Amino acid sequence: MQIVILATADHVADYGAQLFISQLTNNPNSVLGLATGSTPLALYQRLINAYQQQRLTFARAKTFNLDEYLGLAGDHPQSYRYFMQQHLFDHIDILPANTAVPCGAAIDPVAACLEYEQQITAAGGIDLQLLGLGRNGHIGFNEPSSGLRSRTRIKTLTPATITDNARFFQAGEYQPHLSLTMGIGTILDARKVLLLATGANKANAVKAMIEGPLTAACPASALQLHQHAIVVLDEAAAATL
Ligand code: GLP
Repeated sequence: MQIVILATADHVADYGAQLFISQLTNNPNSVLGLATGSTPLALYQRLINAYQQQRLTFARAKTFNLDEYLGLAGDHPQSYRYFMQQHLFDHIDILPANTAVPCGAAIDPVAACLEYEQQITAAGGIDLQLLGLGRNGHIGFNEPSSGLRSRTRIKTLTPATITDNARFFQAGEYQPHLSLTMGIGTILDARKVLLLATGANKANAVKAMIEGPLTAACPASALQLHQHAIVVLDEAAAATL
């Protein structure tokens, strides 16, 4: 695990965006693993800027998102598909057919998870997987106790994660308690992994991920097993290392 500590969240976004730009420049056919949450937003804005300045094209790229709420269709404003359209896909030249997000409205979600794995395999696997970090150490929606070799499946969200993500939902709005998420094994299969964490509220999870034991109690600690994992932190997130 390579650890990079930078002064601010802006520096983290610059660094992460540069890795994605290099990846796509070196291989325009790259298969990218993408994430939602607040942390990647600044990175996505930098990718949009690079596209608008004609420094970058996604015309031949494919993307696979980590996760989705079970029960939300892609046109639901709180769905992760909607998030990706708003914050990235609608602003770049990627082909809609080349963007995959687990289907939260699938009639048979178990089958949809298996199919998602098959789609990733058929695409040749993920070249570069972007990750955020939950305050409880989750990656994607792999909550504590997730199997370290798990594959894409349905996961129940913990009360802590439901509370953390409640800020995205209106008061009284239905907030799903179930998700579809790539497994930890799926994430570890990516050829390169880039985890970004910023802010003091991530410091405990960062410490557990990097300095703690390899344990399902901190799913992100599984990245200790990955040969090409880069963790990019701002000083606040790295404060307890
Ligand atoms: C959600 C997502 C994760 C993300 C996490 C942290 O639970 N499923 O993929 O990493 O939130 O989000 P944030 O970046 O907003 O702190």
